[in-house]
Amino acid sequence: MNDEGILLHQFKPLRLGVNIDHVATLRNARGGVHPDPVAAAMLAIKGGADGITAHLREDRRHIRDDDIAAIRQAIDAPLNFEMAATDEMVAIAIKTKPNAACIVPERREEVTTEGGLAVVGHEDRLADMLGPLKQAGIRLSLFIEANPADIDAAKAIGADIVELHTGRYCHDAAGRLAELARIENAARHSWSIGIETHAGHGLGFNTVGAIAAIAEIEELNIGHFLIGESVFCGLEATIAKMRRVMDAARTDAQKRTIR
Ligand code: PXP
Repeated sequence: MNDEGILLHQFKPLRLGVNIDHVATLRNARGGVHPDPVAAAMLAIKGGADGITAHLREDRRHIRDDDIAAIRQAIDAPLNFEMAATDEMVAIAIKTKPNAACIVPERREEVTTEGGLAVVGHEDRLADMLGPLKQAGIRLSLFIEANPADIDAAKAIGADIVELHTGRYCHDAAGRLAELARIENAARHSWSIGIETHAGHGLGFNTVGAIAAIAEIEELNIGHFLIGESVFCGLEATIAKMRRVMDAARTDAQKRTIR
């Protein structure tokens, strides 16, 4: 603590997980092997990513089974495996042994993950289905709305991590401040009950700062913006810039807290 009793240890280093799904989207548009998500993952690490995130959707619309296996082989950095809560995905995760499995709700018709996982009211089913992941030594992460009740339910089923959905904060300009306050409160709540907090969805250079400034958030997962921006600036340079933007926002927030 500092002289004013502020908990300085709350500011942990902020990690960047780069989601490479949309490199596979581009590859799949023409069949073939280019651009290669594994090469993108390696370049992302070179650009300053701390880990790689990939979502194996049930319809395999972007990342495919062989991509997951190849990324696991090629990359030493942590792999965050996004998956729906299904027996098929649990079996693939146990075979792949990623650092973490992030459970997301999935609907075939959706363009991207639209909302957070409903945990309240589904604790028993989720605990039964996801227990084997934890037994296999995989950290369990749940992608949820910034809602204390779902965080408590995540704790009850033994989740190690909650990832807070930042989609509404990014896309609803009118409601942005209210949503930011909700995310801040949720992050504080999960920290207070001992759950690691991550955040992601929709983040870009203009929206990442306020989220990076939340002391309790330890990891951001960012994909679509980074892959899109890479068309103009290159993947490595884009990731390096995202690192600079988020690290600067974090350092500023930390200085404000200490002052
Ligand atoms: N986190 C989760 C759980 C996601 O499902 C996604 C999208 O796949 C992301 C982060 C990254 O979102 P975006 O691609 O909008 O940056």
